[in-house]
Amino acid sequence: MKIIVANWKSHKTAAQAHQWVNEFQQHALPKVTIVVAPPFPLIPMLTEAFMQGTSGIAIAAQDVSPFPTGAYTGAVAAETLVSVGATYVIVGHSERRQYFHETNQDVANKVTEAVAAGMTPIVCVDLPYLESQVAAIPEQLLSKCWFTYEPLEAIGSGNNQPAAEVAPIVKKIKKLCGKVTVLYGGSVNPDNVQEYLTATDGVLVGHASLKASECLALAKQMA
Ligand code: PGA
Repeated sequence: MKIIVANWKSHKTAAQAHQWVNEFQQHALPKVTIVVAPPFPLIPMLTEAFMQGTSGIAIAAQDVSPFPTGAYTGAVAAETLVSVGATYVIVGHSERRQYFHETNQDVANKVTEAVAAGMTPIVCVDLPYLESQVAAIPEQLLSKCWFTYEPLEAIGSGNNQPAAEVAPIVKKIKKLCGKVTVLYGGSVNPDNVQEYLTATDGVLVGHASLKASECLALAKQMA
């Protein structure tokens, strides 16, 4: 089954999330795996709404603490995320690397924490730094991760990278990391998503996942 990760980023109030869920649940879900990544406080509500594990929908956090539980004010530990139903976590998104100055070592620590708590990290990587980004992750954890190839210039720009250019990068990531799930992210929408069906295992979608109707349209195209 192909995968869609719906990354809501820093969008949606609780009321807007409820509305999205209500609209989403009015339709039968096509045969795709959907992983919704809402802001932290909305995770329990989404977990409850989708009855984790029974509906083909899983929940991801958008970040995780690089530390275990403890005296780290403001950080959300992997164990806490698991306790409210998140089974995946996006790690090392370029927006985290850019605006929050996350280093490869931070990303590696987050991967370590996530895996220790039983979560699947969805690690975002980009081309110029691909080798060093992968090398930073402890080798024995690579097989526990999913990866998302996200060319910086494609994110939020409307300029999705053509699948023909994405395909060799996906192969390269699989060569570096082994038999792992590799997604593509960057301006994917219902009109272009089919392009990525053969080149990837799925897509990570930001803007086009914010409307339930668009997310459903994406899912239909991927099924
Ligand atoms: P976008 O975001 O779909 O809005 O380009 C993709 C991403 O989160 O990387």
